[in-house]
Amino acid sequence: MAGYLLVALLCCLLRAEAFAPESRLTWQETDISLIRFQVQEVYNYSTLLLSEDKDILYIGAREVIFAVNAQNISEQKQEVYWKVAEVKSEECSRKGKSKQTECLNYIRVLQPFNETALFVCGTNAFQPMCDILELNSFKLMGKNEDGRGRCPFDPAQTYTSVMVDGDLYSGTSYTFLGSEPIICRHSQHLSYLRTEYAVPWLNEPRFVHADVIRAPVNNPEGDDDKIYFFFTEVSVEYEFFNKLLIPRIARVCKGDQGGLRTLQKKWTTFLKARLICHSPENNLIFNVVNDVFILKSPTLKEPIIYGVFTSHLNNVGMSAICSYSLSTVEDVFSKGKYMQSATVEQAHTKWVQFNGEIPKPRPGACINREAKEMNYTSSLNLPDKTLQFVKDHPLMDETVTPIGKRPKLVHQNVTYTQIVVDQVKALDGSSYDVMFISTDKGILHKAISNDLEMRIIEEIVLFPDHQSVQTLLLADKQSKRYIYAGSNTEVVQSPVAFCEKLTSCTECILTRDPYCAWHPVKNSCVHILEESNTDRLLIQELNGDASRCPDSADKGIRESMRYKVKAGSTVELKCSCKSKLASVFWTFNDETLNINPPKYLLHGTLMIINVTERDAGTYQCWSQESVMDKVFSQLVMKHVLEIEKTPLPLTSTTQSTTRREEPLETTRFHTVSKETTTKMSTTQAATAFVGVTQLNNKITPTISQMEVYSSMSDVGVGKALYLTNNNDCSLLIILVIIFFFLFLLLLTYNCYKGFLPTPCLKFRDAMMHGKKKTPLNLKDCEQGVKETLVEKVCTENQCGGAQKAPHDTGYETEPDCGNGNITHKDDDTTAENETDQPFDVKCEIKYADSDGD
Ligand SMILES: *[C@@H]1O[C@H](CO)[C@@H](O)[C@H](O)[C@H]1NC(C)=O
Ligand SMILES: *[C@@H]1O[C@H](CO)[C@@H](O)[C@H](O)[C@H]1NC(C)=O
Repeated sequence: MAGYLLVALLCCLLRAEAFAPESRLTWQETDISLIRFQVQEVYNYSTLLLSEDKDILYIGAREVIFAVNAQNISEQKQEVYWKVAEVKSEECSRKGKSKQTECLNYIRVLQPFNETALFVCGTNAFQPMCDILELNSFKLMGKNEDGRGRCPFDPAQTYTSVMVDGDLYSGTSYTFLGSEPIICRHSQHLSYLRTEYAVPWLNEPRFVHADVIRAPVNNPEGDDDKIYFFFTEVSVEYEFFNKLLIPRIARVCKGDQGGLRTLQKKWTTFLKARLICHSPENNLIFNVVNDVFILKSPTLKEPIIYGVFTSHLNNVGMSAICSYSLSTVEDVFSKGKYMQSATVEQAHTKWVQFNGEIPKPRPGACINREAKEMNYTSSLNLPDKTLQFVKDHPLMDETVTPIGKRPKLVHQNVTYTQIVVDQVKALDGSSYDVMFISTDKGILHKAISNDLEMRIIEEIVLFPDHQSVQTLLLADKQSKRYIYAGSNTEVVQSPVAFCEKLTSCTECILTRDPYCAWHPVKNSCVHILEESNTDRLLIQELNGDASRCPDSADKGIRESMRYKVKAGSTVELKCSCKSKLASVFWTFNDETLNINPPKYLLHGTLMIINVTERDAGTYQCWSQESVMDKVFSQLVMKHVLEIEKTPLPLTSTTQSTTRREEPLETTRFHTVSKETTTKMSTTQAATAFVGVTQLNNKITPTISQMEVYSSMSDVGVGKALYLTNNNDCSLLIILVIIFFFLFLLLLTYNCYKGFLPTPCLKFRDAMMHGKKKTPLNLKDCEQGVKETLVEKVCTENQCGGAQKAPHDTGYETEPDCGNGNITHKDDDTTAENETDQPFDVKCEIKYADSDGD
């Protein structure tokens, strides 16, 4: 037993280290109203492009391109439809594609072309086409250029593209069947270049991202701008019983012009390497890259590459974020060893490290200082030796290892799809990389990770219908920062922080959001980038130390409620604690309330059963959260309960209880609220419990209406939205308890009748076995009740027989107790005080848990 616990504990500790904890806050659609863009009959909002100076967001969907206001995307400015010609559509469907879904024009490329035009490409019924979109008139120029190599044929195929100085670099597939992968450049003044169609170059890649990294000006190496591609492909270097997927980073140089004879019209600078995302603690390997974001901030020493990974190996259902520094990547390409294929046993090839002499200039390098010193000024005059080498050895042996040699974040039961990273300078002067990671279920996680911890500050429900997030875009230039997310059915715009929803100083600090700080004068939690020159005033403690908060106690009150109820009824008091990392406790007239059944039940809400005048007073619900070894409490809700004197006659009960018992009334409370929003319905503080009557048998329930006076504080509406109703759940629990008792009754009866020989035996065994020890705790007590009852009957009927292993009984009966979770919350004190248990059985009955091992 102890051993098992230890193992469980260890597992727990290990897990806590290896995986990110649950997000602290969750914002539902009802908490925050996000701005949405959706047009009837238009789907697949898959391409987003932001023009920051024009403040316009361009959206490429199926057969249409929109321009919307970037500050409020619901405000559409322009649109242009781009439909497939009927002949093309016919042709496409003749080739066996679906006319309704595939033979349409999915906009896949939306890139800035010049000041007044965009470059756009669409799948165009499996005949990809590109065009120029003139922005003033918002009309397509009808250029109808062949889009092969720039845009996929199949809308289901992956692709990526980036526009660099007017040239389009794209990773996609070149043919109708999608079998020929390609990374190519379409340029007006530079030559068209592409990858060699060969397995060592690209092997069934799934492209996810491409971006340019500019070489620093005046760098001594005389290096070139580089375009990086990220994809997952089938490994050539590893053997596996099946195709082994592997995440890759590849790069080409902007100044590449191809070779003169060898590698004519092909990249002479194409090199690729393996990206490592591996969690050494638990040996989890993440081998599929789903998205990449390159953080390029002027304050950063060098760009940081953030990748979102999942796995097809041992850890399906987990996702990880790994980050890489650009210098690590560059070192691999500029200094690392190459791989080469060696033929073993005839046709079988194996990839091994190349240890021979590497030709000069270094194969795959840009035309840098070294090449220029050797009088090579262009890739066109590079020696054949170098070119042939890079043609045969595009894969590096060295791997790109993540910063810190481990993932930044690992999360379970989630599939991350997209990532963007914002950098925010907190008031303490340090910069934080805030990761926004979307899931395939329409959720956005906002996470922070450093050497000490990884944590998810909050999760935002972007798409309540759980649509997968297809594309994510960050607008980070202004003080008003936004995240735009596209799905198959809509685009949504979300702010980067929800500071104003954090209503108390403690809550504002405990959230530890680098965007948020407490403004003592405004008495609200504010977005630091939207405030000016108040830095010294604002309170921001990213370590979560809320002790600087002025008078933290009362600020947290979201609601203060006043009820007047009749004696004998059951009252339910709500406590909505937003933080999932907090625990809740209650006070009654400023003293800690011991929540023991059957007087009190706690299940999200506090239930007070059979109220008497002594229960009148102030109930306060507190949330308690520990951050960095400190514990902070804040008042969440305050309820004032008044008991109405009732003229109802008192019924003396037959039970041996010291409390006065009054007819239990089934009551329905109505929250009388001054606000009229429909969302308030979820805040109804208390509801009826029909089932509670079972606890006081022989009393017929009557229904009476009761007035509940509710006084909402000014901020009540916003805060009220936090509340979710737990009433259904409480009712369920009550029902479970009833069924539990009914089951007991049935069991006793059946046992008495001798219908159930086996359980009887077990109870009997348990009884005999358990005489040795008598520790009394709650579980023992409960089981004691059950088992004694049965045992008595059993012995009378002599339903004993073959002995069973004693420890069987304990586990056999456990599920029965497990149903009524609430009853487990009581402790020794209940057992002593409580006498009105069903069947009037006392818990003191000497009885041991059969768990003798
Ligand atoms: C386009 O959207 C529709 C509607 O949600 C979806 O069923 C379909 O799979 C999407 N197609 C692509 C290629 O994303
Ligand atoms: C490069 O060219 C210059 C002049 O054209 C010549 O003087 C120099 O020796 C050459 N260097 C090499 C390494 O060939």
